[in-house]
Amino acid sequence: MTKRSVVIGVGHYLPERVVPNAEFEKTLDTSDEWIRSRSGIERRHFAAPDETTSDLATYAAQAALADAGLEAGDIDAIILATSTADLTFPSVATMVQSRLGMTRGFAFDVQAVCAGFIYALSNANALILSGQANRVLVIGAETFSRILDMNDRATCVLFGDGAGALVLEAQEGKGTPEDRGILAADLNSDGSYREMLYVDGGVSTTGTAGKLRMQGNPLFRQAVEKLASTADAALARAGLGHEDIDWIVPHQANIRIIQGTAKKLGLSMDKVVVTVQDHGNTSAASIPLALSVGKARGQIKPGDLLVTEAIGGGLAWGAVVLRW
Ligand code: UT7
Repeated sequence: MTKRSVVIGVGHYLPERVVPNAEFEKTLDTSDEWIRSRSGIERRHFAAPDETTSDLATYAAQAALADAGLEAGDIDAIILATSTADLTFPSVATMVQSRLGMTRGFAFDVQAVCAGFIYALSNANALILSGQANRVLVIGAETFSRILDMNDRATCVLFGDGAGALVLEAQEGKGTPEDRGILAADLNSDGSYREMLYVDGGVSTTGTAGKLRMQGNPLFRQAVEKLASTADAALARAGLGHEDIDWIVPHQANIRIIQGTAKKLGLSMDKVVVTVQDHGNTSAASIPLALSVGKARGQIKPGDLLVTEAIGGGLAWGAVVLRW
């Protein structure tokens, strides 16, 4: 018998305010047509002024716990991926822990920008496999609207706010690729790409939160290549091939990146969960949001083989192969 980290609950939360592309036409030299054709984005959600990352994360966590039929006291650990924490410290994860009324266990944040949820999932799996936790709440939550330069048309039209969460539970499997749960992960980073995507402020530099800066076109080319290769590496580690995939659940940055990666993997777009048109790029929240929406749409079903993959600032990138 082999221990596996199995998804037993999923949920998400999106702030109420929906911002259609047309809203940017009022203040910037841009158009709905440009944004749709270059990125696939039609709208995104922006948090209310008094709504924070921990608020979004708490609502998503509550939805995932309800889906699992569990209460906060049943959870051993919370891992939360974000680059837009409420405060420099404490972690958003401990704020969520307190809001959920969870008085035992441990909680911490992971910061790997858009790849954050993949890193968090992989770490949650490691905690479960090592016996340090039996049930882990894994959350991706962001308020990227707070770090956007609303005068930079090349970036501010691309990102949105939101949160998604999964509950993972230790279960026994047979040790074969037919098992439910996380089957393999592949993590990578290369800090020499720092200038491609970064925030120009921080605690030990400017003392401010800063604004997002991105070299979109070179990053685009890195993304397709690295996402396909990390998906392949994780699949190989799981002993599976492209033909075994039921769904790719990619980071939702740009429909053209999603299409390019699917093509490199030899898969048609009807095997890809796509939410970028409605959410924009929600960084670490995009994969759990897509998992939750994909399940609600009836796309993702128990037993399906999923490949999730993401790339973001660092650069940091990776993939997780799991059976739902
Ligand atoms: O989540 C982390 C990962 N993030 C990504 O992977 C993002 C990767 N990059 C991208 O998604 C794409 O590169 C973008 C959507 C950012 C841009 O698409 P592109 O096809 O690479 O366009 P480009 O950057 O080459 O820009 C084309 C033109 C430029 O004008 P010139 O130089 O050709 O005259 C830009 O100034 O489009 C212009 N442009 C815009 N025009 C209207 C840039 N932003 C806008 C805009 N509206 N919002």
